[in-house]
Amino acid sequence: MAILKPNAFEFFSHSAEQTRRLGVRLGAMLPVGTVLCLEGDLGSGKTTLVQGIAQGWGSTDRVTSPTFVILNQYRRPNGMQLFHADAYRLAENDPFDLAILDVEQALENGVLIVEWADRLRDSLPKEHIWIEMQWMGPNSRHFILTPEGKQNTQILKDLQLAIYGV
Ligand SMILES: Nc1ncnc2c1ncn2[C@@H]1O[C@H](COP(=O)(O)OP(=O)(O)O)[C@@H](O)[C@H]1O
Ligand SMILES: [Mg+2]
Repeated sequence: MAILKPNAFEFFSHSAEQTRRLGVRLGAMLPVGTVLCLEGDLGSGKTTLVQGIAQGWGSTDRVTSPTFVILNQYRRPNGMQLFHADAYRLAENDPFDLAILDVEQALENGVLIVEWADRLRDSLPKEHIWIEMQWMGPNSRHFILTPEGKQNTQILKDLQLAIYGV
């Protein structure tokens, strides 16, 4: 992507640990109802980022790649849930496949993160944070975070402030 959309920002990660820490910061900022869409090839760091997000969000459950189960759920002591879906094996834009999760109901009391979200693009809520992730080298990754909707724009502003202090 040559030009960033307004309110988007990019992040260069130089280690898995740094990606995880980015996730921790982001995870600590997510209100109920937030949808995070992750797009990137195998190894681009999606699951690593989700591990940080779940930690920052306050889950003590272990995060594993749900590639073969499609949907994982993590809990927080206050009863809220983090839904972690992986659309890797789903056919592109197959609405039947998203039916494994009642998205609206899930978002009433939780947060949703989808890996390979590009395969479900048309069925995902319009308001989301889209995270495009790219492999740059053995330890480097490039992320572009783009918000849709007012609340998500604010979340990314706060995240930038937390990261860069500007
Ligand atoms: N900067 C980085 N960010 C994220 N992962 C990295 C980075 N550098 C190396 N890695 C490694 O790349 C792999 C990413 O795997 P994973 O997070 O499962 O990707 P995906 O879910 O996109 O397939 C992990 O083995 C991780 O340790
Ligand atoms: Mg993964």
